Amino acid sequence: MSGTTALSAEKAEALMAAAEEARKNAYAPYSGFAVGAALLFEDGRIITGCNVENASYSLSICAERNAMTTAVAMGLTRPTAAAVAGPDGVFCPPCGACRQFLAEFNGAMPVAVKDAGGFRVLSLEELLPSGFSLKGE
Ligand code: THU
Repeated sequence: MSGTTALSAEKAEALMAAAEEARKNAYAPYSGFAVGAALLFEDGRIITGCNVENASYSLSICAERNAMTTAVAMGLTRPTAAAVAGPDGVFCPPCGACRQFLAEFNGAMPVAVKDAGGFRVLSLEELLPSGFSLKGE
């Protein structure tokens, strides 16, 4: 594990375990690339999501956005950390769209990203420098 350490190792591991669990439910018959995501909230709740693909490929949704929209529907809009898990041995950071989507809710949170050696913790700020904002600079 390397990078930002604003997230304790214990919490990062629990969050990554939740992402791995959600990954088991991924619906990815087209790409075969299953992804799970987990978001931690201040009250300790962890909300998860997986990627859900569609025969009309562009309708597919990523695990991170799936988790975030589920959280919002539950009234949770301020995640304090995230974890993303893809296939074993693959570094799996959130895609650009998911970075922007998550930054809407907390642009500075740590993101545990599965990699070939386990996982590393990056900050969403370093993953999305100069993200779009209606406020400008
Ligand atoms: N995918 C995610 O779920 N999250 C990402 O951040 C990147 C990609 C999914 C989308 C698609 O179902 C599969 O991975 C292959 O691109």
